[in-house]
Amino acid sequence: MTKLVICNWKMNGSVQLVDSFISSLPQSNDSCWNLVIAMPHVFLSYVNSKSPRFKLAAQDCSIYGGFGARTGEISADILASIGVEYIIVGHSERRAHGDDVESVYAKMENAVRCNITPILCVSDDYESQITNRTEELLRRRRDAVILAYEPVSAIGTGVTPSIDDIRETITRLRSRYGVNSIAYGGSVTSDNAQDVMGINGISGALVGGASLKLRELSAILNPREFI
Ligand code: 13P
Repeated sequence: MTKLVICNWKMNGSVQLVDSFISSLPQSNDSCWNLVIAMPHVFLSYVNSKSPRFKLAAQDCSIYGGFGARTGEISADILASIGVEYIIVGHSERRAHGDDVESVYAKMENAVRCNITPILCVSDDYESQITNRTEELLRRRRDAVILAYEPVSAIGTGVTPSIDDIRETITRLRSRYGVNSIAYGGSVTSDNAQDVMGINGISGALVGGASLKLRELSAILNPREFI
């Protein structure tokens, strides 16, 4: 199965950094992964025009769909028009700053309507983050959504759950919500990426801090070259 390495750059980056990534990132050796780039919105078209081999992701989208007088908002429809294939929704860093379950649902619904795969982030309190409506959407679109298990305690801390714990939670999420694709995020680095990506049934990993360091990301993608 081809797994996704989803690089969440968060509020980081520059044109210079984007350029160095495009020119230096290794190609997949054996197509065991697909690289998904979740850079800030402003870089996405630029990346696509320079190197269409990357899959584009947005880190968020508006709760509003379509087009119109919504100053500062970026809709899933606009993101679809530039070739975005994935949108991260409900990241804990956004939930901490105001995204509630209803707005996360609205973003997810807009992504699905635009044929974009939402990557719905949940933490250990996923039962309270996934409302009945969200669950219904997850089940209805089970092949077109990704659920991302991102324990808040692991994000940016260097402290991850054990591989067994991640495997167990992923299995629990799959049987509870029926979603086919489940990814993990939280302090994934070149030290643990092989173990994380090797978990049976995992669809990929969201990589935050390590995805901003070219050498680190290269080691995650092609570990054999760095042994
Ligand atoms: P870190 O890899 O920096 O812990 O961030 C993970 C994350 O938030 C991915 O969405």
